[in-house]
Amino acid sequence: MEIHRIGRDAVVLNDQLEVPGIGFLAVNAYVLKAAEPVVVDTGLSLPDRNFVEALGSVIDPADVRWIWLTHPDRDHTGGLFDLLEAAPQARVITTYIGAGILSTERPLPLDRVYLLNPGQSLDVGDRTLTGFRPPLYDSPATVGFYDDRSRICFSSDCFGAPMPTSELAGGNEVRDVPRDALRAGQLLWATLDSPWVHNVDQTKFLGTAEPIRAMDPDVILSTHLPPAAGQLSEFLDMLATAPSSDPFIGPDQRALEEMLASFEPAAGAQV
Ligand SMILES: [Fe+2]
Ligand SMILES: [Fe+2]
Repeated sequence: MEIHRIGRDAVVLNDQLEVPGIGFLAVNAYVLKAAEPVVVDTGLSLPDRNFVEALGSVIDPADVRWIWLTHPDRDHTGGLFDLLEAAPQARVITTYIGAGILSTERPLPLDRVYLLNPGQSLDVGDRTLTGFRPPLYDSPATVGFYDDRSRICFSSDCFGAPMPTSELAGGNEVRDVPRDALRAGQLLWATLDSPWVHNVDQTKFLGTAEPIRAMDPDVILSTHLPPAAGQLSEFLDMLATAPSSDPFIGPDQRALEEMLASFEPAAGAQV
């Protein structure tokens, strides 16, 4: 895991996945150094990742007070239960449906849950965090948030983009990504992760970007993108084109078999 700092207030715990045919997808969790420290999501659920150990290079896990789970997909919940053990004071910020989804696999103890809906706020000692539903999302539980002190918006899956190289997926600045590759990657991700975007009333859909427009954040931190400073208007333009962009159609069985055949040893080779 790569560790990047964003100003004084936030730290990125950057991981990534190579997605065949798509590119390299950043999978970021964050630490917000509030008076009551907040961990935002808990990384991939792969067995060789030790989220709590990586977190320990940034903050003593025992000091964590809040775990803002933007939604309970498995690329966000990897270290969740280990962190709850390592951080006895921490509570998981999620929604009723978020806690419900988790309860189908491993229920959260209810005294460790803090339910927060879009539009509601939480005081974490030296700042107020306000939840909102990002315009693009892949879970009914998704709630991002805005920190009024650092002026950072945590957008969950929204604005993500697979990157053409591992180096870019591990980078600390989205400005390093060529503009065309960034726009193409964001639209690919939008249609792959939120395929409903093709079915929406365009005017109503753009209305869902109003909360983030009103925040006017200095920095947008997506789970699946390098940190993005000063990019709000570019990102809002991207959203406007998402409903009419090409739908994503994944590889089918024939494509999978062709890919597997390309991995097989040459005919006659001895194994
Ligand atoms: Fe997701
Ligand atoms: Fe995700």
